[in-house]
Amino acid sequence: MPELVPILSRNEIDRKVAAIAEQISADYARSDLILIGVLKGAFIFLSDLIRKLTIPVQVDFIKVSSYGTELASCGNIRLAHELETEIRNKDVLIIEDIIDTGLTISFLVDYLNSFSPKSVQICALIDKQERKTKKIDVRYICHEVKKGFLVGYGLDYAENYRYLPDIYHLKI
Ligand code: IMP
Ligand code: MG
Repeated sequence: MPELVPILSRNEIDRKVAAIAEQISADYARSDLILIGVLKGAFIFLSDLIRKLTIPVQVDFIKVSSYGTELASCGNIRLAHELETEIRNKDVLIIEDIIDTGLTISFLVDYLNSFSPKSVQICALIDKQERKTKKIDVRYICHEVKKGFLVGYGLDYAENYRYLPDIYHLKI
């Protein structure tokens, strides 16, 4: 049986999301901001974050699929759901669940930059240090971990565990 080791409780998540929301609200107080959530993993994080912001924003979603194993993404990434909102000259903030190798987020930054937004920055619930293949500037990070496969609060393993309110390290 896989073992779930608690990493971050719902209360800790709530405090961290509130702190990030305060920063984002201050940094984008005078801008035309659109949050772009990366499906499916970011859906809970985005919905909590957006209700803690004190500035008006727009929201859209994109979805990517990468063909790798269930524990690691590979470089072969494609868009499964395209952007529908006009982002030209807007400030874009990508809302991602977790950054591991960084391949997915790099692909998304390049994709979004092709629409000539005013800026593109990254906000991640979790930044995993161990397997970065290149340096990525993640402007807002709720929580950093060195390694391990995490589930809960939107994060899945083979589509399971997303519904858990806390975040766990999955030991298989
Ligand atoms: P990257 O392209 O290697 O940075 O992987 C990013 C994507 O892989 C994330 O958007 C997640 O969907 C998935 N992923 C990476 N690590 C984890 C994890 O620990 N738990 C759940 N999903 C993960
Ligand atoms: Mg994801």
